[in-house]
Amino acid sequence: MSKRAIVIGASSGLGKELAKLLARDGYEVGLAARRVALLEELGREISTPTHVSRIDVTHTAEARRQLEAFIGEMGGVDLIVISSGVSIIDPTWDEELQTIEVNAAGFAALANVSIHYFMERGSGHLVGISSIGALRPTGTSTVYSASKSFVSRYLEGLRLMVDKRGLGIHVTEVQPGYVATPMTEGRGGMFWVAPVDEAARQILRAVRKRKRHVYVTRRWRLVAWALKSVPYPILSRMS
Ligand SMILES: NC(=O)c1ccc[n+]([C@@H]2O[C@H](COP(=O)([O-])OP(=O)(O)OC[C@H]3O[C@@H](n4cnc5c(N)ncnc54)[C@H](OP(=O)(O)O)[C@@H]3O)[C@@H](O)[C@H]2O)c1
Repeated sequence: MSKRAIVIGASSGLGKELAKLLARDGYEVGLAARRVALLEELGREISTPTHVSRIDVTHTAEARRQLEAFIGEMGGVDLIVISSGVSIIDPTWDEELQTIEVNAAGFAALANVSIHYFMERGSGHLVGISSIGALRPTGTSTVYSASKSFVSRYLEGLRLMVDKRGLGIHVTEVQPGYVATPMTEGRGGMFWVAPVDEAARQILRAVRKRKRHVYVTRRWRLVAWALKSVPYPILSRMS
């Protein structure tokens, strides 16, 4: 039987690239996001069977029902990747709220459905895209950093929950540094910007190895180490 995966946030960037790689790896892929035309276009590029679902993660109750229905429509899935996210520099309050709704509430709503589905099934793999930004904020990305800390802690908690019960379920937390996607297009002040295909390849490698955690690209672990230990006065000068 073929392997099946759903990628939420597959219309662009990391999710789109990962969906392509999963298909090349033999997965039948379910593509979800709001921009259905982009998902259908991607579906035509992919050689394995694809399925499309319009899901807006901010409508949490509806999105949860839609994900459950999508899993059923595909005849069950082995892997769910949640890549949907927004990042807005110097956000207004409305944009802060949008960030919380997409990156935190929307993420938790669908991660929760995914893990309960896998627990019922007795197997499966959940992958969530957090960020290096989860480790420390900057003065212009407060809510993004906070939302990604939420993603990281939520995934860690889900992993503890399934591990404690001895279930054969895997949870992978991905912490990318900068990746060249529409999210970061035209932004200044970035360094070590990874091409999206390279970043997606490293995520797929971590998925295959069922890793608990991965920095993407790998050298971002050095930045992570520095961020974790840097005292506030220095963080303040860097920000
Ligand atoms: N690029 C980077 O440097 C970087 C670094 C660290 C972490 N990340 C994280 O990586 C993930 C992917 O980002 P990316 O760089 O690939 O950005 P992107 O190209 O802008 O893609 C974002 C994806 O999220 C989806 N999305 C946004 N709002 C949504 C909503 N309300 N409902 C459903 N889907 C929604 C978008 O689909 P629709 O608009 O079609 O709905 C799109 O597919 C994000 O979680 C981001 O925070 C990115």
